[in-house]
Amino acid sequence: MSSNVRPESMERITTEALANAFIEDQIKELRAQIGSKKVLLALSGGVDSSVVAALLIKAVGKQLVCVHVNHGLLRKGEPEQVIKVFRDEMDANLVYVDAVDRFLDKLAGVAEPEKKRKIIGAEFIRVFEEEARKQDGIEFLAQGTIYPDIIESDGVKAHHNVGGLPEDLKFELVEPVKLLFKDEVRVVGKALGLPDNMVYRQPFPGPGLGVRCLGAITRDRLEAVRESDAILREEFAKNGLEGKVWQYFTAIPDFRSVGVKDGKRTFAYPVIIRAVNTKDAMTATVENVPFELLQHITDRITHEVENVNRVLFDLTPKPSGTIEWE
Ligand code: XMP
Repeated sequence: MSSNVRPESMERITTEALANAFIEDQIKELRAQIGSKKVLLALSGGVDSSVVAALLIKAVGKQLVCVHVNHGLLRKGEPEQVIKVFRDEMDANLVYVDAVDRFLDKLAGVAEPEKKRKIIGAEFIRVFEEEARKQDGIEFLAQGTIYPDIIESDGVKAHHNVGGLPEDLKFELVEPVKLLFKDEVRVVGKALGLPDNMVYRQPFPGPGLGVRCLGAITRDRLEAVRESDAILREEFAKNGLEGKVWQYFTAIPDFRSVGVKDGKRTFAYPVIIRAVNTKDAMTATVENVPFELLQHITDRITHEVENVNRVLFDLTPKPSGTIEWE
């Protein structure tokens, strides 16, 4: 499948049967393209790269080398899930790279949002390049490019883009889901047996929690945003909001306020809850989260998360606010 144009005759993949037919076709095409060579994939654990990994594991097994870079800005439990699903359950050839200190050292003291994004993107390519050089005989680079990436941005995908690799590492591209829309990728992922919380997960930006730990990232605030986000996700799942709300997360600013806990004065950070609905992320409305649930989440966050003494709810639609705070 080398053309970047979706044929008008291509049926929308809406059922398991259609997904299985697509999977069978892809396995044949991937085997024909790759032969006995090796393929490299940056596996973030997001739906697109996970579906590509699962397809390639079926097609070429251990010829696929997945590289999962933990940059320290992933959500709670994500690196562990990637290892469990792909290495333990699918027996994939998975290289796990703990690059947490590297990223956080590079980001120390950097407060400007676009500068943070650039550092995260550039460091990701550097880490990936190092891992690519350690592997012998790689000839292909797999990518989770999907059709909207091709339509909207000339095939350049912000969070999977390893197009910044140096000349001598310019591998031939393998992009098995490049003609699919997001909903189709999910149907295929489900048919491939990936877990629901991987297949139906909400969008998560490439720079991850890096743009939700506002200003210069510090480890204490990064942990606070990761823990509060995990509580928010757990409560949304328990209360039927997972899958209903388009995107929800917490952000943590870089200022503190006075509070009181166990009769003692505290000076700690607030956490901001954002929960929005949108079709295309260009505009968004705020989810009407039940007040009692917000109170319960506030109670949990202020009691369970270190260095946090207040919780705020962001009532701002897009415009005037963007979905992320940075
Ligand atoms: P904004 O904040 O612009 O976000 O309203 C719209 C959507 O894009 C996501 N987003 C990003 N995704 N890299 C990404 O891969 C980024 O740097 C980035 N910034 C925002 C955001 O989560 C929302 O879904």
